[in-house]
Amino acid sequence: MKLSKFGNKFTRQSGINQLMVDLGEAYNSNHPNLCMLGGGNPAFVPEAQALFAKEMELLIENKLFERMVGIYDGPSGELTFREVLAGYLNEKFSWQIGPDNISLTNGSQNSFFYLFNALGGEMPDGSFKRILFPLSPEYVGYADSGLSDDMFASYRPKIELLENKQFKYRVDFDNLEIGDDIAAICLSRPTNPTGNVIGNRELARLNELAISHEIPLIIDNAYGQPFPNVIYADAQLNWNSNTILCMSLSKLGLPGARTGIVIANKEITNTISALSGIITLAPNSVGAALMTRMIEDGEIEHLTENIIKPFYRQQLDSTIESFEEVFADLPVLMHKPEGAFFVWLWCQDLPISTKELYARLKEKQVFVIPGEDFFIDIDPNWPHTQQCLRINYGQPSDKLKAGFDVIAQELRKVYGAKA
Ligand SMILES: Cc1ncc(COP(=O)(O)O)c(C=O)c1O
Repeated sequence: MKLSKFGNKFTRQSGINQLMVDLGEAYNSNHPNLCMLGGGNPAFVPEAQALFAKEMELLIENKLFERMVGIYDGPSGELTFREVLAGYLNEKFSWQIGPDNISLTNGSQNSFFYLFNALGGEMPDGSFKRILFPLSPEYVGYADSGLSDDMFASYRPKIELLENKQFKYRVDFDNLEIGDDIAAICLSRPTNPTGNVIGNRELARLNELAISHEIPLIIDNAYGQPFPNVIYADAQLNWNSNTILCMSLSKLGLPGARTGIVIANKEITNTISALSGIITLAPNSVGAALMTRMIEDGEIEHLTENIIKPFYRQQLDSTIESFEEVFADLPVLMHKPEGAFFVWLWCQDLPISTKELYARLKEKQVFVIPGEDFFIDIDPNWPHTQQCLRINYGQPSDKLKAGFDVIAQELRKVYGAKA
């Protein structure tokens, strides 16, 4: 079969795709020693799932189910949901947005595909523009989402060493350059894979840079406020007409509802809406239908503050405890976990790559995500890119501890072999 350039680019085997295939096969293997510490799935939180199920029953009782499944919404997404959400965000953050500042998509991944390719790539005047990630490592899902090759630019972080075997990446403003070829600045906050939350001052500086260069600042808020609010740092959430804030219902526990939310000026809203109209006709209605009453009645606060956030906080606390115990004798540091549901481990001076470590752990039924692919556009010869692992801590804590034990055993062999 002959494929177009588009066909070739989007069917190319990427490293991360192969990992996802591995994860899928591992899930199906039902091996008794299986430890799934990879993947980006939110955990199953039974209390949250019960609320979603109850909401679905209410939709049926109130004859709203037929509407949810039976009609195409407009290309910006269901209007009542957008009105209710705008009101909620205005009240919570003192913004002044309306429903026409909000467009829905079929998940954030879908939002980024639209945004990156509408803003960057080949321009009508023949120039070429790229999306800048000011702080690498960044969410691997961005890496292959450009219609053109070479769509992304990125910078190495400054690494700050902290107490308790922790470290934190910071934007290296001394080296950050924003040339005419940059179409937008984009960052995830909290960051997948590191759990970093860029500080308020750093974010304000990026906002100023974006405004002064007349390019938008895209903030990927998939794990942030107000939902799912899996964030443990002091983080202000600001919005202005130059900000494109991307939210999602996935990490609240609804990845199957495929609902992305883009909050932006009206020009961007119209752009997303036009793209949705052509590419999908209309965004999915299920997420909007499930969340409208919950937001309107304030039940969303109960869901995030009393169920989701404490669940991940407890998981994180036991992960840190296991980390400190299991890796005490090894040169392994943890990125300061400030949000999202991953810990990012830095195996200092690791004698093998983390891709090789991944393969060895896979043999022992422990699945992690090697760090290399998260360093989008960063020189792979920088050794740090081959020394990090991402661990999803949504697993039961005994599984997590068992997985950590296997990783530590393997690392002892690897570091011992070096000595
Ligand atoms: C930082 C980040 N952004 C976006 C996404 C995509 O989420 P969605 O399910 O809304 O497409 C993910 C999913 O893992 C993510 O971690």
